[in-house]
Amino acid sequence: MDPGHDDALAMLVALATLEVQGVSVVAGNQTVDKTMRNARRILTAANRPDIPLREGASRPLFRSLVTAGSVHGTSGLDGYEFPVLDVSESAQPAVAWLREQMQGSLQAVTWIATGPLTNVASFILGHPDLVKNIGLLAIMGGALRGGNITPCAEFNFYVDPDAANIVLTSGIPIRLVGLDVTHKALLSQDGIQRFRRLPGMVGEMLYGLFTFFAAHEPDANAQGVPIHDVLAVAAAEHPEFFTWLMVPVTVERCDGQCRGQVQQRSEGPLVAVATDIDTAKFFDWMWTALERYYR
Ligand code: BDR
Ligand code: CA
Repeated sequence: MDPGHDDALAMLVALATLEVQGVSVVAGNQTVDKTMRNARRILTAANRPDIPLREGASRPLFRSLVTAGSVHGTSGLDGYEFPVLDVSESAQPAVAWLREQMQGSLQAVTWIATGPLTNVASFILGHPDLVKNIGLLAIMGGALRGGNITPCAEFNFYVDPDAANIVLTSGIPIRLVGLDVTHKALLSQDGIQRFRRLPGMVGEMLYGLFTFFAAHEPDANAQGVPIHDVLAVAAAEHPEFFTWLMVPVTVERCDGQCRGQVQQRSEGPLVAVATDIDTAKFFDWMWTALERYYR
């Protein structure tokens, strides 16, 4: 992940609903030193210092980094005054740590990716023999129609289209959750107020963060603000909340307007692409998870 406001919510919900083995961070919404610090801030707020955290790629595979400071602020998590942290992070790179996890795992691992896919592609390229240990990859990225950073590309795929293409054509079982559904699951102003009722730091933090995010996310409207990344967590756990299209896809790697665009193909490994979502079921699940775990 590349926290990031919506990554922060995704992490909090994942901690509340899954057995999280660890978090690997990538550059995207901000530079990797900032996304790393933000991931640590969220784990601290959730009182989960036990979760392994590893730093991944500082830039896309073959291109320079594009960040989203206008959406997530200069820190990558603007809107809440975090306490100063005094933690020294592990020097082990994310992909080396992921290799150990995949080698040591007795069952297939679920990987949830909510940032540019640089770490995932690096893992596939570096450890092709371990790819079979990934049972499921749930990804927030792309769009069958439209875009948010250009008229035809979504941010995560635009930032590292080469990585996205490697991942989507890898044959790994993938559930892809793009703007086609994340633009339907909008967090309303009432929802932002409801965050505030969660006790302790988590409640105040989510309230501050999403007040900022609602004012800066370009696709926020009177109905609410898209909360993209947490839908990848939902897709991993509750595929029945979504409607899926099984289709081979590639990602456009040109340097023009269409960089990062998802293209449907007639041949290649099938990817499950979400085309619709039952928002009532999704929000019910999200609120139940948050209100049970953070009390
Ligand atoms: C994606 O881009 C990032 O800014 C968000 O964190 C999300 O992962 C939405 O396009
Ligand atoms: Ca993200």
